Amino acid sequence: MKVAIASDHAGYRLKELLKQTLEELQLDYEDLGTFDETSVDYPDYGAKVAKGVADGLYDRGVLVCGTGLGMAITANKVKGVRAVTAHDVFSAKMSRMHNDANVLTMGERVIGQGAAAEVLKAWLTTEFEGGRHAQRLAKVADLERESLQ
Ligand code: RB5
Repeated sequence: MKVAIASDHAGYRLKELLKQTLEELQLDYEDLGTFDETSVDYPDYGAKVAKGVADGLYDRGVLVCGTGLGMAITANKVKGVRAVTAHDVFSAKMSRMHNDANVLTMGERVIGQGAAAEVLKAWLTTEFEGGRHAQRLAKVADLERESLQ
């Protein structure tokens, strides 16, 4: 599995720590920035990861900002992206099992480092269940197609 990770300045420190989790899981990943705590605009980094996932360059994306919210709003503008903000393990798992989420967002100002690492691990190691959930996601994709016309 290839993973893209990025953050804005407000998520930079957590992003750096989450890279250790990706290494522990022995996943191939690419850090698309930002590379220090200089103020930047989260949509620039959210777009890089979301477009990379939508284009098939990466299987999953991880985005960190202050709250995780701006990153989720941004990523969900890209066709084919199903981004979720999760700050607990249950939501992270369910977002994979039922929603086949392909981008996870978190907020450095919301969650502690240890909990964030557990959420990321759960999200990366939980499979989509398919079946009735796939039918529902097909409806989501239909809506996306309609609204982009
Ligand atoms: C930056 O101050 C902050 O607005 C950003 O990191 C994010 O939380 C937006 O949703």
